[in-house]
Amino acid sequence: MTAFSEVKRLVSPRLDSDAPAPLYRQLYDRLRRAILSGNLGPGSKLPSTREMALELGIARNTVMTAYEQLLTEGYVEGELGSGTYVSKALPEHLLNACLPGRPGAGTPGRCPKPSLRGASLAAIPNPFNPVQKTACPFCLGWPALDAFALELWARLTARYWRNKLSHLLAYGDPAGYWPLREAIAAYLATSRGVQCHPSQVIVVSGSQQGLDLAARVLLDPRDSAWIEDPGYNGARGAFLAAGVRLIPVPVDEEGMNFPSVAGKQPKVRLAYVTPAHQYPLGITMSMSRRLALLDWANHADAWILEDDYDSEYRYAGRPLAALQGIDSQERVIYLGTFSKVLFPSLRLGYLVVPRSLIDAFTRVRALSDGYSSTLSQAVLAEFLTAGHFARHVRRMRQLYAERQEVFLRAAQRELRGLLEVGPCDGGMHLIGWIDHGMDDRVIARRARAGGVVTTPLSSLASRPLKRAGLMLGYTALDSRSIRDGVRRLAAILGNHG
Ligand SMILES: Cc1ncc(COP(=O)(O)O)c(C=O)c1O
Repeated sequence: MTAFSEVKRLVSPRLDSDAPAPLYRQLYDRLRRAILSGNLGPGSKLPSTREMALELGIARNTVMTAYEQLLTEGYVEGELGSGTYVSKALPEHLLNACLPGRPGAGTPGRCPKPSLRGASLAAIPNPFNPVQKTACPFCLGWPALDAFALELWARLTARYWRNKLSHLLAYGDPAGYWPLREAIAAYLATSRGVQCHPSQVIVVSGSQQGLDLAARVLLDPRDSAWIEDPGYNGARGAFLAAGVRLIPVPVDEEGMNFPSVAGKQPKVRLAYVTPAHQYPLGITMSMSRRLALLDWANHADAWILEDDYDSEYRYAGRPLAALQGIDSQERVIYLGTFSKVLFPSLRLGYLVVPRSLIDAFTRVRALSDGYSSTLSQAVLAEFLTAGHFARHVRRMRQLYAERQEVFLRAAQRELRGLLEVGPCDGGMHLIGWIDHGMDDRVIARRARAGGVVTTPLSSLASRPLKRAGLMLGYTALDSRSIRDGVRRLAAILGNHG
């Protein structure tokens, strides 16, 4: 039997009515924790609901709800009102559960472990880690979320709910919501020269899922693939997770320099490229390199995975059309995303696959996460077809061009002799080149400690780079934050030069 005073001690400190969890849940959690940790032993009597309510200064109903939950889950037994006792029949393994803070919790060998495969997958660096919660100078790949047409998006969403379109609530097509696939095909044809039928468009949960699917559908473990170096860590991670052997390929002023490595390795089955705007260097792949790459793929019986992640943002000159549009042999798998052009949490992107692969991609996608939210797809389809998307892109292109200009002027004033920052025709970041032989990772660490987030180029490279640099995202920041961030960065660099 546990004394009432002991139970009181176990449920203290006071429940917090301002906490996000309701009061009954807080009480339930504390009692459950006390039971699982053995502090409230089997057979211990809980105070009556009235006593507990008085003691804690909360409504009796709240206590009853907590007790009922514990009864339902088998932690306590008896009748509410005539005595509630900690269950005598609690299984031993529950009592030994690894509760945070309990001695032994987290001790190797006591808590369940992932499989060897799970552990090796979890060790692969991924692009979503660490998660940046708010925009700050100079976080990478963040669109101007403050300038997104939120009210319009909310209105479109509300209209779908109001119209009670019950088919949107049912299971969806793993390849995507048909009107959205049609809208994407039409958009890509006019804006990127992509040639496809809507059935070739597979809607995915952002590019990352597209990369994962492409790696698993097109390649076997231990197959070889070329990847740009420096290049996108999200792609690197997806291929490594699929057991693919990655061959880093240097990037020159014409894009991925595959001729420099061709013929030196075993058979290469796929090339991953960002030809519109190489990530991270911002180079546009030349037309002759594009044609040579297509020619290589035809002869080598290989695939090209074209990641066109931010081609909407071109500030000077006209963009070259997508590689996919000049591929006559169906060797190119095209990948795009709405993360940069709308907002990342939408988690909508698309693959355009050759006709012969539609079925395989759709089935594998269905096995991985079914399909994307149909409601979001429907709203996005409307956003595209009603012309809102084109307007939004135009607005953002102008805003980002202005923000880049603000960054460059501030950099000219503050960063001279510390970082060399030049303009970029497109994209969402600039590169600050480091000339004084310092390690970009060291500088990025110091900058972060001073509240300025930068991404060292070397963190995207598998081999030492000729020149170190910092990637500096500017699109999410207003003019004041850009100037302030540049000033802070200059102070940090100046102090450590
Ligand atoms: C090269 C590249 N591809 C794709 C993406 C977008 O990823 P997702 O659509 O998964 O948000 C990014 C984002 O940073 C990127 O840099």
